[in-house]
Amino acid sequence: MTNKAQILSTTVEQNPQNTSKKPLLGVNVDHVATLRQARGVSYPSPLDAALLCEKAGADGITIHLREDRRHIQDADVHEIAKQLTTRMNLEMAATTEMLEIARQVKPYWVCLVPEKRAELTTEGGLDVAGQLASLTDYVSQLQAAGIKVSLFIDPEDTQIAAAVNCGADAIELHTGSYAEAGLAGNTDKADVELKRIKNAVTTAKRMDSKMLVNAGHGLTRDNVNAIAQIEGIYELNIGHALIADALFVGMEQAVMMMKAAMHQ
Ligand code: PXP
Repeated sequence: MTNKAQILSTTVEQNPQNTSKKPLLGVNVDHVATLRQARGVSYPSPLDAALLCEKAGADGITIHLREDRRHIQDADVHEIAKQLTTRMNLEMAATTEMLEIARQVKPYWVCLVPEKRAELTTEGGLDVAGQLASLTDYVSQLQAAGIKVSLFIDPEDTQIAAAVNCGADAIELHTGSYAEAGLAGNTDKADVELKRIKNAVTTAKRMDSKMLVNAGHGLTRDNVNAIAQIEGIYELNIGHALIADALFVGMEQAVMMMKAAMHQ
C-alpha cells in the first residue's frame, strides 16, 4: 500500500464505530462485472478490482447480486467474500433465493434494495412502510444468521420510522434525486434535496441513535463533499462515477481521489 493510501485508509477493523466523524467509503464494483459480462469472458475480474480498492483505502466492497445475474455472478459473491479483508456489503432483493445465498455467504452487511427487471440501476428506495411485517421477519432471519442489515430507502420520515420498526442495523439514504438535480444544473433542486438528506439523517438519529446512516447513489467527486460533510453519516457507497474515473486513472487512484473529494 502506498503512503498516501495508508493515510487515506480507515478500515472498520481499526475503527468499528467510525468515531472519526468522516464517512467511510464503500466501493461498488458491479460495473467491472458488467464489462466482463459484455463479452462473456473471464476478465476484468470484480475480485481483482475489489482487492485493489481495498489496497487503496476503500473501507468496504459492495456488490449487487441481481435476480437476473446481469453483472455479478454467484461465483463472484463466494470468491469476493473469501478474499476481502474489509467487509462485504451484499445488495440484494428480499427474496427467498437471496436469503439462502446470504446465509451461505454470510457477508458482513446485507443491503436490501427494491429490484425491477427492466431498470438500468436501482431506481427508488425500498417501500419499508408498505411491507413492514414481511420485511421485519426477513431482517430478523438475516440477523439470526449473524448478518447486519441495511435498508436502502428514500429520505422520507415514514420510511425511516418503518426501518427503525423493522429493527434494521442501518439505513442507506438514496441520494439519486440530489445527484440528478446537480447533473441537470438545477442547483435550487439540488439544495432542496441536500436539505432533505440532512433532515433525514437528523430524524434517523433522533428515532434510533444506534442505527447507522449510510448514503449512496449517483455520487461523484463533484457532488460527494456536501453529503460527506453531513454529521452522522457512517458510510457512502459509490460505484458508477468511481469506476468511470478508474478507466482513466486506474482503480487505486480513483479510490484515493474519491476519498480525497469526500474528506477535503
Ligand atoms: N447504493 C445502492 C443501494 C445502489 O443500488 C447503488 C447502485 O448499484 C449504489 C449505492 C451506487 O450507486 P452509483 O453506482 O450511482 O454510485
